[in-house]
Amino acid sequence: MLTRRADFSKAYLTSIMPPLLAGSLLLADSDSWLHQRKLMLPAFHKERLDMYAAVMAEESERAIATWQSGQRRDIHSEMMRLTLQIVTRTLFGLDFSNGVEATERLIDALMDEVNSRIASPFRFRYPLPSLRTLRLYRAMKELDEIAYTAIRERRRHPQEDLMSMLVGATDEDGTPMTDREVRDACLAVFFAGHETTACLLSWTWYVLAGREDIERKLLAELTGPPAHSASPAELIERLPYMQNVLNEALRLYPPAYAFGRRAMRDTSVGDHEVKAGQTVVMSPWAMHRDARFWDEPEKFAPDRWQNNLATRLPKFTFFPFSSGPRRCVGSSFAMLEATIAIATILPRFKLSSPPPVVEPAPSITLRPGGGMPMTVTRRKGPN
Ligand code: HEM
Repeated sequence: MLTRRADFSKAYLTSIMPPLLAGSLLLADSDSWLHQRKLMLPAFHKERLDMYAAVMAEESERAIATWQSGQRRDIHSEMMRLTLQIVTRTLFGLDFSNGVEATERLIDALMDEVNSRIASPFRFRYPLPSLRTLRLYRAMKELDEIAYTAIRERRRHPQEDLMSMLVGATDEDGTPMTDREVRDACLAVFFAGHETTACLLSWTWYVLAGREDIERKLLAELTGPPAHSASPAELIERLPYMQNVLNEALRLYPPAYAFGRRAMRDTSVGDHEVKAGQTVVMSPWAMHRDARFWDEPEKFAPDRWQNNLATRLPKFTFFPFSSGPRRCVGSSFAMLEATIAIATILPRFKLSSPPPVVEPAPSITLRPGGGMPMTVTRRKGPN
């Protein structure tokens, strides 16, 4: 990921993704990737995050507006809806709140396809005809309609969002991106940024359940001005214990639990020979639970992150967002989003009693298998 990038490609990920994402930043190799990445980075700069913070807080409030004390709710579905709303409103200026079910169906159809590709020993460029693929093509068509309508709209009336930035961007010789290129870039961000952050939130609620001691520390840290009134940088600085909790959830349940690269030529990794065409898999899940680097690795212990543990760890013992030039572009966005969501929800509701063991279901992300049913109880007090 750092020094031998020319020897490896992202072809493995491409082979498990439906063709609709093929040209996008997430999967592209070489020049087209660098070009897209450069164009996209400003959307994740500090000033932009300032603007997104208010939407993140507003959507977190909206997510719990209908919760009734004592209800049992699937917290993973709730977090999926929340992160869907946040990513579409902040980066694309779209509000899907009226069509949530339809959008969820589209995403499910795509994820079904990805999951079946992961499980299959065969890799076909295009899916084989079946009822599932019919559903997939319908979903892709609907998603394209949403994307191209929004792109045309942004060409006429630019707004303050990622899509407008991409529409207005040109490369070195002044050529603007085509509609197809803008659509590819947007879909990549949508898929990379939605379910990953929802998984981080769901697993964080899971590890917090039953840990009154940790919740108390978090709540104590949260007494102060409301989360969205501070700038993102101030907020992260003001809530160091929250960052420890999130890092610990990312350690135990990294949403991107493994990612691969395919060797472009015969090469080696350490003492291992790797033949051209073979896939090398790097797993944050495995490294984050390796007893050579972590005391009591299976234990949820946010305090281990005190005194800047992150800066003292050997490289690649903790890499939930990958590393090197292809490191996640949305990591600050994701950490801010998770911080604001928890800072908004935790003082109002206690989330408790998940099933004693929720098995991780490894698909493209590390989903909670069977969802995350939990009881939500309104807290007494000013909130
Ligand atoms: C907890 C949440 C997240 C996790 C754990 C995560 C993890 C990752 C990882 C591990 C990669 C590299 C994959 C590889 O090298 O094969 C990646 C890439 C990427 N992520 Fe994230 N991500 C998260 C949230 C987000 C968000 C919120 C966005 C955007 C809004 C985003 C956008 C991207 C993009 C565009 C790439 C491709 C970057 C490139 O190839 O240059 N991610 N992410």
